[in-house]
Amino acid sequence: MPSSEGGVTISNMSTKQTYLTGITTTGTPHLGNYVGAIRPAIQASEVPGNESFFFLADYHALIKCQEPDLVRQSRQEIAATWLATGLDPEKVTFYRQSDIPEIMELTWILTCMAAKGLLNRAHAYKASVQANEESGSADPDKGITMGLFNYPVLMSADILMFKATKVPVGKDQVQHLEMARDIAQRFNHHYGELLVLPEVVVSEQAVLSGLDGRKMSKSYGNTIPLFETEKKLRKGIMKIKTNSQEPGEPKETADNTVFEIYKAFATPEQTEAFAAAYADGIGWGDAKQQLFELINGQLAQARERYNELMAKPDEVEAILQHGAEKARALSVPYLKSLREAVGISS
Ligand code: TRP
Repeated sequence: MPSSEGGVTISNMSTKQTYLTGITTTGTPHLGNYVGAIRPAIQASEVPGNESFFFLADYHALIKCQEPDLVRQSRQEIAATWLATGLDPEKVTFYRQSDIPEIMELTWILTCMAAKGLLNRAHAYKASVQANEESGSADPDKGITMGLFNYPVLMSADILMFKATKVPVGKDQVQHLEMARDIAQRFNHHYGELLVLPEVVVSEQAVLSGLDGRKMSKSYGNTIPLFETEKKLRKGIMKIKTNSQEPGEPKETADNTVFEIYKAFATPEQTEAFAAAYADGIGWGDAKQQLFELINGQLAQARERYNELMAKPDEVEAILQHGAEKARALSVPYLKSLREAVGISS
């Protein structure tokens, strides 16, 4: 049924959508990854008729992490996380970026279509340059690799390779989606309409706050891990920064990290009750305990499955190989047609 939103008619509600999202394999999955990327992606994959691609962005990991053991460990943990939280490898295509060589080939083709000026404006790159300038360095590009600079092009290749129409990501990734569209448009303008323009899907709760109130992110070191032991989950939650208000004093829910994380896991009724407890002056210790119980209740079973999978790397590997086979059945012929379009064919 067509609907109208902000003057734009949306009529693609019944057409099949291709969801695709990736998770960079650095670090151990945390609550922010789960709420912002994993959970909405898995939910979307359960809608009949949609097609879903989920992958481990392990080449992206090399940009930030040059420690082989950490990359290996994280690939394993993240694969186990997606499988433990309900991803069905029969229903979706679940693979590692590095198992699909066509993505790297497409990256080069797109690199030759991407304006350098476009990439100069990427937030991550600009932030690094700014950090150099602020530290008084003579070279604004000090320590910045071409990997970091090209990051949005590799991400574009991930997306365009599988003709994704919907890409669920956190708010911080919206610019990358704009770039993917921009690069695809340029390609299509030049070589013909071969690439599909993706749309970004930003979950309401895509950016969860961390222990210190900033965005929960491994780069800030303020994360609460998803599948540590129950004890560590509780300890993590108890470390969330709160103000010095005493029990009995009514508390604000706005901009409160404990409340925000609670809301991300709760039903609307639970959230309402929690808000009432805030108004009644619940103490921070009690609020955190309630938060712990809510999250732990939802994660306990998945945590068990996660531990099983971590103990059986061969099982995970077989699933990923199967996923790569499914993915390459699409990427091989598609890349062939893209190579032909640019004038490279045998
Ligand atoms: N850059 C994304 C992140 O850090 C991960 C990612 C890589 C991705 N390739 C992607 C997400 C393609 C969506 C689509 O969160």
